[in-house]
Amino acid sequence: MSRTVYVNGEYVAEEDAKVSVFDRGFLFADGIYEVSSVLDGKLIDNPGHMARLERSLNELKMARPCSNDELLAIQKELIKRNNVTEGVVYMQVTRGAADRDFNFPKDATPSLVMFTQEKNILANPAADKGISIVTLPDIRWQRRDIKTVQLLASSLAKQTAKEMGVDDAWLVEDGMITEGTSNNAFIVTEDGTIITRGLSNSILHGITRKAVLKVANELGLTLVERSFTPEEAYDAVEAFSTSASSFVMPIIKIDDHILGNGVPGPVSQKLRAAYIAEAKANAE
Ligand code: PDD
Repeated sequence: MSRTVYVNGEYVAEEDAKVSVFDRGFLFADGIYEVSSVLDGKLIDNPGHMARLERSLNELKMARPCSNDELLAIQKELIKRNNVTEGVVYMQVTRGAADRDFNFPKDATPSLVMFTQEKNILANPAADKGISIVTLPDIRWQRRDIKTVQLLASSLAKQTAKEMGVDDAWLVEDGMITEGTSNNAFIVTEDGTIITRGLSNSILHGITRKAVLKVANELGLTLVERSFTPEEAYDAVEAFSTSASSFVMPIIKIDDHILGNGVPGPVSQKLRAAYIAEAKANAE
């Protein structure tokens, strides 16, 4: 069955959804996006995603396509029309269509596209088993705090990981892990300390990262926000990644190093369960 998608003011069947070949998202990756997850037909952590969208727009001096209330109404309408109980809502804003010119157009209208994608986030076998990852060089641009659609470097890394027979990659810059291809990176040391890189322009300020840190704090776990090396990750007893589309994903192998007993560890499992409970309680 065809999905209903939203394109610039209209709800249309996916095969009829079109954007201009002159759209700056297409020509320059001059666009930003957000992915919000859906559980029980309700949006998870959505105010955080809306706030980050606003920040990305401001950082790129891009005009707003509409108000946050209107964005929320479109998200909800798509969830309803497509009967989504579990999955994600994707929204993308670009600077709009204009003759190809590196300078920003003066009078382009921003484009807004939204669609839903069904996904089993809770009953995900990968989360039960844990995933294997490799470390790869981080070749992305230097403003990773802005959630732009220029995802080729991340796509290449994810594809390389797949060709190496593993599930994902953590990216390394100046000898330190930055983050995963589409998630934030965490390790747990022998004494139970949870370590994740601090916020800067080097990583995306993950909405799930923030929520998981809050949950970890509430559980009385020890948290340290600092950069860490691949070697520290090899020696960790647990590792996991966080994102809106996978929540807390346990990692059991990094490069050739098996972590702990090679199964998802207690801290990762506890945080996954606590995050899901909190997310459901605050869903809208
Ligand atoms: N990716 N880091 C990067 C590079 C990401 O692309 C993402 C999210 C995250 C986690 O952010 P959040 O917790 O707000 O989802 C970190 C989304 C899910 C994607 O591109 O599909």
